Amino acid sequence: MSLSKFVDELPRIRTIKPKGILCGVPYYEIEMQEFKKKLHRDLPETTVWGFEGDYPGPAIEVKTNEWIKVKWMNNLPKEHLLPVDTTVHGAEPDKPRVRTVIHLHGGVVMPYSDGYPDAWFTKDYKEVGPFFTTKIYDYPNIQRGATLWYHAHAIGITRLNVYAGLAGPYIIRDPKEALLGLPKGEFEMTLLIQDRSFNDDGSLYYPTQPDPPVPGVCPSVVPDFFGDTILVNGKVWPYLNVQPRKYRFRIINGSNSRFYRIRLSSGQPFYQIGTDDGLLESPVITREILLAPAERADVIIDFSKYSRQYITMTNDAASPFPRGNPPDCRTDGQIMQFRVSLPLSSHDYSVIPYRMTTIKPLLEKDAIMDRHLTLVREEDEYGRAFLLLDGKMWDDPITIKPKLGSIEVWTLINLANSTHPIHLHLVNFQILDRQLFDVDYYKETGQILTTGPKIPPELNERGWKDTVRANPGEITRIIMRFGPYVGVYPWHCHILEHEDHEMMLRYEVVY
Ligand code: C2O
Ligand code: CU
Ligand code: CU
Repeated sequence: MSLSKFVDELPRIRTIKPKGILCGVPYYEIEMQEFKKKLHRDLPETTVWGFEGDYPGPAIEVKTNEWIKVKWMNNLPKEHLLPVDTTVHGAEPDKPRVRTVIHLHGGVVMPYSDGYPDAWFTKDYKEVGPFFTTKIYDYPNIQRGATLWYHAHAIGITRLNVYAGLAGPYIIRDPKEALLGLPKGEFEMTLLIQDRSFNDDGSLYYPTQPDPPVPGVCPSVVPDFFGDTILVNGKVWPYLNVQPRKYRFRIINGSNSRFYRIRLSSGQPFYQIGTDDGLLESPVITREILLAPAERADVIIDFSKYSRQYITMTNDAASPFPRGNPPDCRTDGQIMQFRVSLPLSSHDYSVIPYRMTTIKPLLEKDAIMDRHLTLVREEDEYGRAFLLLDGKMWDDPITIKPKLGSIEVWTLINLANSTHPIHLHLVNFQILDRQLFDVDYYKETGQILTTGPKIPPELNERGWKDTVRANPGEITRIIMRFGPYVGVYPWHCHILEHEDHEMMLRYEVVY
């Protein structure tokens, strides 16, 4: 099925208001629901999951250091919208089909509020997972201004819950940022990009099994999923009318498996001002931005010289990345359109600042540990390929135990053949470098034999990150300080089909 492009206007994601005050801080109640929504002019209504009647969920907006409490509530039906594979960890037949728990991606939060995958709950908290903690989560927001996002994280069905629609933005505003004069108000927008496929009746399509199928398992998890239709803020290939001035866009890749390398058809640059977890020191002027699942880019686009032009945001990243099929320029090669068709409503006083913040580098010499962690492809008991971190599975005993307050380097050794976006809960990190190495030699000896120079991170990766692309045949080194909380947290590949199929491990911050 092929849907016309740029016939629906890009919706602005609304900001949700607190329900009241609890223990002196803003208190939110946010309910997950199933409902129908029109995702494209020519598509019948689609049954989706969302929050408070919205897919994507409404934005939560807070200030740096503003503590809030959120009660995530599950009012979803008993049966899942999508095919649940009961052979993957945590989704066994004895578990309720519809389970949810919400994680704040990029948030520095206590373990009980982290949305631990086994801390799921069902409708009205009737059943709860083995590590259920509390109904009301605390988000202290003691961190930089940044574009975070919240999304479903229940063990074994994260890919399905997020695909059904359970994700939304979470914006932390640092009052200091207001002094920079960045575009704001109606000239600032969040763009949550996701790919989906649809059946002719408008329902969401998600595969029941891989191609070719796996004997004896149906439904079965698939190695990855790439939809043939691109949505922004829950609309298929939308357009946005803009004025000839500067806009700030907070771009989130909320897709299951798809990477995007975005460009503008006008050939004009993006001024990238921020990464996953906050501002860069200075804007990076770039014509292309690569975003793996869960990565974010905070950008300014200056439309002032493009009056009356229609500008398409395109994608040319291969699926799987980087060695898979290039996108089709008629479908997944396009994301949305900007129409510089509105008159200038007032003078544009916003600026692209020369310098925005200071990022103090974490130093390798201060690290007390360099952990070597492999990303390796194996076969599960059904003969399905799956990927493991450090050769281990989710339920294996925890071996990674960083000390509270200590700095560590993690060397991610990618022995597989595609890029995996590796995400750590709790901490924001910096990328040290990437380096080619001899994969076969490593497999034989367990030793890293590098075969190229150390490549520093891209200019637009030199900020605070929580998700890093670990490319095939490369070691990727990241550095972080563990804290400020102790406890057990997940780290995982953010290709959700991988995460659900064992590419997720636990680590524990200890005293
Ligand atoms: Cu965005 Cu553990 O996830
Ligand atoms: Cu996270
Ligand atoms: Cu992966």
